[in-house]
Amino acid sequence: MTTILDGKKTANALMSELSATVQSMIARGVTPGLAVVLVGDDPASAIYVRNKQRRAESLGIRSVKHVLPASTTQATLLQIIAELNLDPAIDGILVQLPLPAQIDAQAVIAAIAPDKDVDGFHPVNMGRLWTRQPGVVASTPLGIMALLNHYGISVAGQHAVIVGRSNIVGRPLAGLLLNQDATVTITHSKTANLFALTRQADLLVAALGQAEFITAEAVKPGAVVIDVGMDRNDSGKLVGDVAFDQVAPLASAITPVPGGVGPMTIAALMMQTVTLAKRRLNE
Ligand code: GUN
Repeated sequence: MTTILDGKKTANALMSELSATVQSMIARGVTPGLAVVLVGDDPASAIYVRNKQRRAESLGIRSVKHVLPASTTQATLLQIIAELNLDPAIDGILVQLPLPAQIDAQAVIAAIAPDKDVDGFHPVNMGRLWTRQPGVVASTPLGIMALLNHYGISVAGQHAVIVGRSNIVGRPLAGLLLNQDATVTITHSKTANLFALTRQADLLVAALGQAEFITAEAVKPGAVVIDVGMDRNDSGKLVGDVAFDQVAPLASAITPVPGGVGPMTIAALMMQTVTLAKRRLNE
């Protein structure tokens, strides 16, 4: 029997615990504050931002949204970040990616105060992760770890193979898995004989952004399969990076799309916002 790793249910369970934490913080005078900055009108980004805001509001987190036109200059964006860095009511700053071409995303990320970098994308936080120091960690990888933990899946000693080397998912996830004693292989679009590697995975993570790329021949029977993809297939249906119907029967556990990693990403973002806000409680 394949276990369906239900991200929606797990996120809801984690969020009801977090809601109690937020209420008790508010009672002690600290309302966690999250600033979300959206530049341009990418429809997928607008949906992600809306979902993040809804979840924040449902928890009692104060969510402030800055929507800027696609023509925004880097200087304007850096000015907004400088103000948010100084705003004592803001605990977490999230600049939704991707940014328009005229803006250097790395420069923007580096301008966020590391201790308000709720996405964990700042080089200081990436460095903390890779040197096993406490810090903020990217939401999608953290959400994946929380989902595995919720289902009692231990990665220690397991061979984790990640397909995709992005700063947002592949790289930070590798750090988290390594810190929990997995043996980690990061693969990518230039990897030779990719499926020979993915077939060795006890834990296979697909984060490459290609609809249904991971087919049955890519998977070892009994593997745990995590699908980070959110793609449209040729008929316009929302699918993941994993061909779910053929892979699910082989896997011991698998995330669905939608309802797998997506809700966990948002839950992790909320947990990180609350963690950052806790510093304002003088305890
Ligand atoms: N774009 C896609 N995923 C993310 C994310 O986790 N954070 C931000 N800021 N932008 C994204």
